[in-house]
Amino acid sequence: MRVLSGIQPSGSLHLGNYFGMMKRMIDYQENHELFCFLVNYHALTTVFDSELLRRQTFEAVCDFLALGLDPEKSVFWVQSDVPEVTELTWILSNVTGMGLLERCHAFKDKTAKGIPANHGLFAYPVLMAADILLFGGEKVPVGKDQKQHLEVAKDIALRFNNAYGETFVVPEPDIEEDFAVVPGTDGQKMSKSYGNNIEIFADEKTLKKKIMGIMTDSTPVDQPKPVEGNILFDLYSLFLDDKDKEKLKERFITPGLKYGDLKKEILAVIWEYFAPYRQEREKIVRDKAYVLKTMQKGANKARQAAAVYLEKAKHNVGLDYRS
Ligand code: TYM
Repeated sequence: MRVLSGIQPSGSLHLGNYFGMMKRMIDYQENHELFCFLVNYHALTTVFDSELLRRQTFEAVCDFLALGLDPEKSVFWVQSDVPEVTELTWILSNVTGMGLLERCHAFKDKTAKGIPANHGLFAYPVLMAADILLFGGEKVPVGKDQKQHLEVAKDIALRFNNAYGETFVVPEPDIEEDFAVVPGTDGQKMSKSYGNNIEIFADEKTLKKKIMGIMTDSTPVDQPKPVEGNILFDLYSLFLDDKDKEKLKERFITPGLKYGDLKKEILAVIWEYFAPYRQEREKIVRDKAYVLKTMQKGANKARQAAAVYLEKAKHNVGLDYRS
């Protein structure tokens, strides 16, 4: 089974990225064929500072490696190192209805927030479909916010296969209920662009400020605390197994729990959980030559895999006029 997913280097990676996608990908590498990439072409739709894009791409690569992505067991690359993906995007554009893209929430949400409505932002889901179809991705681990984009990718694959004959694997989203929408410090979905994110590799001071600033309700200390929709409960639960989650629930419904104390506890849990990865990251960031070599090898492997589907698609639409 070919498992594939990508992530934008458009800001520091956060707990939503980690539990919604990164950790799940890393777990899959043990017994699946894993394809994992940093989508810097996608990030171009919203990041207009070249130096920032370069730095964030490098850092996101380091984050993934530090968190345990094994470039020997998987195919791991940076999107722009496999430019075939833009070629396929153009081919797929011609079987993509305007209505399909016009209905996409991500485009509507971003433009509503004042992000200029450029064509890249509008065509974003077609590039994403190309990311998946170019490598025959079967299972795509994502958070819930990407569900609609996956539907678009499926739709494009089906339309292409209908029009030109069986060419692409039709992908399926893989969304894990417990991690589908990790809340941010304000209770909305955690996002790089909402300012509500808890960064995986934030320094201790920044992390403390974020955790202590998590929104809470005003239930008095001597009363039971609500569990449903409680940001502290949901964030703490990310780090607990079912048994410990039950114990946490007990603490919430027992009067006396102080949110301030709980925040300190959560801070300690997060800090400790990522401690070994933080150490690993420090080493990796310093070894730029290793990182660049690793990405080059990853790109070579990815280009080989891409050639199979791209050639097939070009043949089926008739671009191989010499044959
Ligand atoms: P991106 O970069 O916004 O997010 C990367 C992954 O993290 C998940 N995620 C979350 N999951 C749970 N709770 C949250 N608060 C949360 N925030 C982010 C996202 O759902 C995603 O899985 N368009 C994609 C990148 C992409 C892609 C692809 C994904 C490009 N090509 C091909 C899969 C296959 C994106 O912007 O993700």
